[in-house]
Amino acid sequence: MIIEEGSYVLLYHSLQKTWLVEANTGKKFHTHLGVIEIGEAVGSEFGSHLLSSKGKKVILLEPLVYDFVMKSERLTQIVYPKDLAYIGIRCGLSSGSRVMEVGTGSGGLTTYLASIVRPSGHVYTFDVNTKFTAIAKKNIKKANLSDFVTFYDHTQFQEANCGRVDLVVIDIGDPWTMLEKTYESLRPSGTLVAICPTMNQLEKMSSALTEFGFVFIDSIELMIRNIEARTGKTRPAMRMIGHTTYLIFGRKALQNTSDGH
Ligand SMILES: C[S@@+](CC[C@H](N)C(=O)[O-])C[C@H]1O[C@@H](n2cnc3c(N)ncnc32)[C@H](O)[C@@H]1O
Repeated sequence: MIIEEGSYVLLYHSLQKTWLVEANTGKKFHTHLGVIEIGEAVGSEFGSHLLSSKGKKVILLEPLVYDFVMKSERLTQIVYPKDLAYIGIRCGLSSGSRVMEVGTGSGGLTTYLASIVRPSGHVYTFDVNTKFTAIAKKNIKKANLSDFVTFYDHTQFQEANCGRVDLVVIDIGDPWTMLEKTYESLRPSGTLVAICPTMNQLEKMSSALTEFGFVFIDSIELMIRNIEARTGKTRPAMRMIGHTTYLIFGRKALQNTSDGH
């Protein structure tokens, strides 16, 4: 695949030295490895390389959704790839899914959701903070996913025309306050997931989901341990990220008498 004018390129030198850069004719990119004439990448094939002014080799990789999320501009905490992937399979996220998200933040999770639901699905996302929404919009545009996301201010909750959604994703400090609003939008049997960084939130959310009649309520935590694989001395990395968040899932069951709560 050829790098076009305006394409994003992941510059790879080593595991610790990668950059996500837009390739534009004549553009130079300054790093401590020297200047990289990123403009020269336009017209080359992804997978080829450039040499910096100090003769260091950088490979021109095609960025994945993983790279767009990890290199996103951030004003908030984001949901990390280990949690994103589990949310995907656990909620039955697929191409065509319709998703309601409360707490857009920097758009890390939104980017992942949009990348899966495209081309026929959609993500409807709400936030109270317009500064964060502006950053999220930029991040999602960079990943070329804007067509699959509609951004709302939280005050537009009632008027937003999202219709029935297949899943609800809540990433705010008090997710239980959103159950009333999101329950009606979620289709029966659909999944709700809340991102809860603390056990206090998890406990409270678990009780609220039970009270609301959700079933299959399940809480988990995922950890990743990096392995340094080197001939004759392979072992886990000395450092690891101890905690990002807990996740709590619930499925919407219909009440016997009516579809409401
Ligand atoms: C941790 S961030 C979300 C991060 C996001 N999931 C990501 O991956 O980038 C939480 C967001 O929830 C928003 N928020 C807090 N209360 C809210 C509410 N009642 N309705 C909508 N958004 C809310 C905050 O403004 C903040 O942007």
